[in-house]
Amino acid sequence: MRVLALETSCDDTCAAVVDGDGRIQANVISSQEVHDRFGGVVPEIASRHHLELVNLVVDQALADAGVALEEIDLVAATQGPGLVGALLVGLSTAKALAAARELPFAAVDHIQGHVAANFLAGEGGEPAFEPPFLCLIASGGHTLLTHVGEPGRFTVLGRTLDDAAGEAFDKGARMLGLGYPGGAALEQLAAGGDPEAFSFPGSRRDRLQGGRGPGRQAFANSLDFSFAGLKTALLYRLREMPEAQVRERAADLAASYQAAIVESLILRAEQALERTDATRLAVGGGVAANGELRRRLGALAATVHVPPRELCTDNAAMIASAALHGEHLPYPAYLGLDAYATGEGSP
Ligand code: KG4
Ligand code: ZN
Repeated sequence: MRVLALETSCDDTCAAVVDGDGRIQANVISSQEVHDRFGGVVPEIASRHHLELVNLVVDQALADAGVALEEIDLVAATQGPGLVGALLVGLSTAKALAAARELPFAAVDHIQGHVAANFLAGEGGEPAFEPPFLCLIASGGHTLLTHVGEPGRFTVLGRTLDDAAGEAFDKGARMLGLGYPGGAALEQLAAGGDPEAFSFPGSRRDRLQGGRGPGRQAFANSLDFSFAGLKTALLYRLREMPEAQVRERAADLAASYQAAIVESLILRAEQALERTDATRLAVGGGVAANGELRRRLGALAATVHVPPRELCTDNAAMIASAALHGEHLPYPAYLGLDAYATGEGSP
């Protein structure tokens, strides 16, 4: 079995070839840096770029894997959630590739993909992280905690009620005058700062002071996340401070803001581990690259698995992996499939 998968839900045009044992034969990611100057992804521009890049990226993936289209047994693509125009480019291309050879097709949910990144074999062919485990996904578009009973089946325990964790990083970075996406830049700035200098909702200091951060609010019992209050708190804090002081305290502000995001993620992960008696935790999404988050994860009473960075951020290998464990539609049953932005099809 050999899967060719496409992922175009946001601003990365991705194609991958993965074999039936979850071994990656090619994983091509073309990031559209064109959006950086707008401070966010512009959906229509993303769709147009996907259209220009998608065939090149598929050709590159087949070339990297050293296989021809004739050697592919299953075609897969992300169906949603994401930007509909962007999704349609990958979905239509993948359906056309499959139809041309009357191959079966797998329509994959993007979140299932992030979870399935854990089922891919390591570079040395070592076995993947086996369920059951808890999975924390924290990216620019989504933040959720799931319980994975077996590949392809999971239950959502909590999700963000407003902004995603990566979005909180990006918005904070923007307020601090850093580029987009700003998570990595904010982390860099935070490295020279004091995480306890400022008290933000959700931070350890805030909670120790009996603050009303997300950990203590009405949904204290749920495993949902909330980052909108934190973003507003930073905005108000910055408004109160003279410009020179903001520059002088930028590292402390970044460190305290980062600490509050990480604290929320860790708190929920800890609560989920306690409630489910799980002992294994997988982590995915772009925010998993964050060093402070990784350090705190390492201190949890659980076996923690963080796939390599290129498998944590959006990629098509994870979509191929989900396809291997999901439903395969025979030709031509998939020709009418449509993309979805949110909701339907989402777990
Ligand atoms: O998974 P991903 O590549 O795309 C989405 O599916 O959204 O995640 C991108 C997100 C961005 O919000 C980015 O700022 C964040 O991951 N990110 C980080 C770091 N590197 C990327 N956040 C915090 N620290 C980092 N080192
Ligand atoms: Zn994603």
